Amino acid sequence: MEQIKTYIGKHQQRFLDELFVLLRIPSVSADPKYSKDVVRTAEAVKERLVAAGADQVEILPTGGHPMVYGEKIIDASLPTILVYGHYDVQPADPVELWTSPPFEPEIRDGKIYARGSADDKGQMFMHVKAFELMMQTGTLACNVKFMIEGEEEVGSSNLGPFIRKHKDKLKADVILISDTSIIADDVPSITVGLRGLSYMEVEVTGPNVDLHSGVYGGAVANPINVLCKMIASMHDENNHITIPGFYEKVKELSKEERAELDKAPFDLTKYKKALDVEDVQGETGYNTRERISIRPTLDVNGIWGGYTGEGAKTVLPSKAFAKISMRLVPNQDGDEITALFQKHFESIAPKAVKVKVRPHHGGNPVVVPTDTIAYKAASKAMEVSFGKKPIPAREGGSIPIVALFEEALGLKSILMGFGLDSDAIHSPNEHYGVYNFLKGIETIPLFYKYFAEYSKK
Ligand code: BES
Ligand code: MN
Ligand code: MN
Repeated sequence: MEQIKTYIGKHQQRFLDELFVLLRIPSVSADPKYSKDVVRTAEAVKERLVAAGADQVEILPTGGHPMVYGEKIIDASLPTILVYGHYDVQPADPVELWTSPPFEPEIRDGKIYARGSADDKGQMFMHVKAFELMMQTGTLACNVKFMIEGEEEVGSSNLGPFIRKHKDKLKADVILISDTSIIADDVPSITVGLRGLSYMEVEVTGPNVDLHSGVYGGAVANPINVLCKMIASMHDENNHITIPGFYEKVKELSKEERAELDKAPFDLTKYKKALDVEDVQGETGYNTRERISIRPTLDVNGIWGGYTGEGAKTVLPSKAFAKISMRLVPNQDGDEITALFQKHFESIAPKAVKVKVRPHHGGNPVVVPTDTIAYKAASKAMEVSFGKKPIPAREGGSIPIVALFEEALGLKSILMGFGLDSDAIHSPNEHYGVYNFLKGIETIPLFYKYFAEYSKK
């Protein structure tokens, strides 16, 4: 432990400088305009892995953005940790709401401000630096493989085939991921559940062309009015989702399980204050934390159509669109829910319009067992570095690889992230605490140590 702290203390400025180099490259996977930057970032990650001492470092093609791979196999009899992370980031817009430019990282108030600082470049890079630390101090206790992907933020749709193709190369005993949060800097937690995702785009068409809203309005279906009504009908007065069969496979938690999850501290007043809302809203019968972790949801992510330019244009639009996502919980299945949505959406459309449903990416929900060697090692590692036993917590976000890996290789993941829910990931002014970055680098080698130790027994 002292050795870890000494090494970090001596090199932390360089660690930050190197992270800043990665943060300066706008690796926005969603926008083809940045595809060169995405590749440049993969190359930069590759360089860092080589410098840290990894072998077989290569950039592997996928059907989309490339994967960075590297490994250090020190002893076949030792357990192997597969580190997963992503070097791609969300788009930065609305850029005008950033205090400092999204791709010009800056530390203010002990926080690194930049797109990707917390999600996930900063968290992924902790693993590279922890690996360097273990190499330099001769303390690497496990074999390690790195798999850093470039399209997590767009749904990892090429990952399934990639994993199946490289099954042997990716053989490991556990997957270690830092792409989630802790409850607070002084309340460490390990993520034991993630929601799945089913995401679609819908298109509603009324008349074959935009019309004068005075000449035709009132007589011809307005696709935007219709779409709004359809969307509104998908929640009832208790904020339950009305798609038939939607809840059928949802695993209800027992009173005991809910009480257990409720042990984690949560301050609703602070929560509301931070978001500047008078009140929260959600499914009747569940509290806020449950609504964002163990319950499924349906949300409109974007809606458009008609005239949205300057001033007023009186128009009855021909088309309306929306992007709708559903967060899923065990044991809902992404493909099944997508099919249920599609069928329902078509069935509630009035005859006066035509609808199209285009499914985007999805992913299945996961729960991480806490009775494994890997979980115990993570728990012990955090207990030592934070001085407090971490709380198992379920989170609302999604990371497609976790379910994919389990399905394809039967491999479980450990979700040991160091971010905070308040890091503004996907939002303007995303940031990551320097404390969290360094705490991660400190904790990761301890995970290796205890995982090796517990695996022996
Ligand atoms: N790191 C997040 C997921 C996350 C955030 C998990 C916070 C737990 C706490 C990840 O990069 C992400 O944003 N995932 C997407 C899913 C994807 C399929 C686009 C998400 O959750 O929207
Ligand atoms: Mn992420
Ligand atoms: Mn993300």
